[in-house]
Amino acid sequence: MSDDVFDAGWLALREAADHRSRVHAFANRLTDAAGQAGWTRVLDLGSGTGSNLRYLAPRWPWVRTWSLLDHDAGLLATAQAASVPDPVRLVGDLASEGLAAISEADVVTASALLDLVSETWLSAAVRACASQGAAALFVLSYDGSIAWRDPDEDDGLVRDALNAHQQREKGLGQALGPDAAPRAEQFFRAAGYSTSLDPSPWRLSGPGDRALTLSLMRGWIDAAIELQPEKTERLRAWEARRTESVQADRYEVVVGHHDLLALPPGTEA
Ligand SMILES: C[S@@+](CC[C@H](N)C(=O)[O-])C[C@H]1O[C@@H](n2cnc3c(N)ncnc32)[C@H](O)[C@@H]1O
Repeated sequence: MSDDVFDAGWLALREAADHRSRVHAFANRLTDAAGQAGWTRVLDLGSGTGSNLRYLAPRWPWVRTWSLLDHDAGLLATAQAASVPDPVRLVGDLASEGLAAISEADVVTASALLDLVSETWLSAAVRACASQGAAALFVLSYDGSIAWRDPDEDDGLVRDALNAHQQREKGLGQALGPDAAPRAEQFFRAAGYSTSLDPSPWRLSGPGDRALTLSLMRGWIDAAIELQPEKTERLRAWEARRTESVQADRYEVVVGHHDLLALPPGTEA
């Protein structure tokens, strides 16, 4: 099980930024490929409350079966979209039920998940996709970059501590963190897939993104202090400076992510 518990409030807070930041063309390309291949079954791994479903369902009317898998039954119970009020809900772990469920899917997708997984799990997931001939759309994997419009001398300290924390054990072995999406692309290519890996950065600014940015910063600081308690005072001072500028709407920050589309051999899109 993961040490990280994702609360529904945090997932709701990030949903708008997630949806607007995605590489929208990938959903369309997958629709074209699905039309040719006759795909109808989609599996969303680590679905949480169904943000990925809510983005994709209106764009993928060709889907007949939506299956959502998460080990948090509480989050999963609330997962739905307007056009999919009652998806198949699978309570289980990515390492067991998750890998098994891939064998029943034409398309495997995940949002904000890949940076939590280990190389071992990722390689097993790609093998499972390849033996099934399933396509993959893995979006919003954190890429390790955080760029503020007005740099602060300790931005790098916070970012480096966060990135080191990202590569700790997250329940499936040592997490890949920012390396996850490029590594997934390598695995899919080695399996003969055609792949596209494009940036899908969060661009946060203004009152509309204030709550998300403040919450994000709290998470970064908690992670940084857990890793480097001896730097607590310096980290808290950074947090105080940044909090003041975010609350005054004097901020712009770009948090890097990657979206990955992987299509099996013989698929055109
Ligand atoms: C960052 S959240 C993303 C949720 C959702 N995909 C979204 O975009 O809002 C990661 C999700 O993966 C789930 N998760 C983490 N580790 C898992 C595991 N080992 N097995 C099953 N689900 C897991 C968490 O419960 C959480 O819902």
